[in-house]
Amino acid sequence: MENPDRSRCVNRGYLEPFRHFATQAIHSGQEPEQWKCMALVPPISLSTTFKQLSPGEHAGFEYSRSGNPTRNCLEKAVATLDGAKYCLAYASGLAATLNVVHLLKAGDQIICTSDVYGGTNRYFRRIATEMGVKVVFVDCSNLKCLEAAITPETKLVWIETPTNPTLSVIDIQGSAEVVHKHKDIILAVDNTFMSAYFQRPLSTGPRGRHLYVFSN
Ligand SMILES: Cc1ncc(COP(=O)(O)O)c(C=O)c1O
Repeated sequence: MENPDRSRCVNRGYLEPFRHFATQAIHSGQEPEQWKCMALVPPISLSTTFKQLSPGEHAGFEYSRSGNPTRNCLEKAVATLDGAKYCLAYASGLAATLNVVHLLKAGDQIICTSDVYGGTNRYFRRIATEMGVKVVFVDCSNLKCLEAAITPETKLVWIETPTNPTLSVIDIQGSAEVVHKHKDIILAVDNTFMSAYFQRPLSTGPRGRHLYVFSN
């Protein structure tokens, strides 16, 4: 029988509730069999370095910055909840933003929605531009403005929805349709305010080089 919550959501234009969110949040990436001791709750690994049987011959982990067993569990769980193939966890949202921008090179252009988190705005305007990356701020809630702003230099479109703090809403699916007409442009969606529980950017719009940033 159809779940009434489900049809209410869909009729109001929201995504369907995620069927197994709670179950996946506590099980995905956390299989006890991955630990020799069969721990039900993933052990917290504080080790910086890991034993190598011979130089370069490690059992999956060598140095915690590049990989850590506990962080792996978190990344797998978050990827599942977002319907993503992969996830990379960072210590802060801005650290994740910085890493996305490092995919660009001098001369490339970022189109950032005009109403965006202050830290993102300052990072783009004051720091990314120092590396030769061009940044334009455009009202991406108007898809025509977004489309008109795209140039051959555009390599990243950055949207945030709802925005911090004014809660402006941007059409993720519409933005993805505009951006993915151009195969070498990345669309990043800062989903901080909604989280995967309420909004899963990867489930909306055409698939492409579609990224998603979370903040902790
Ligand atoms: C929408 C949004 N994006 C990014 C960030 C940055 O996150 P962090 O403070 O973890 O660097 C914040 C922080 O409040 C935010 O609200």
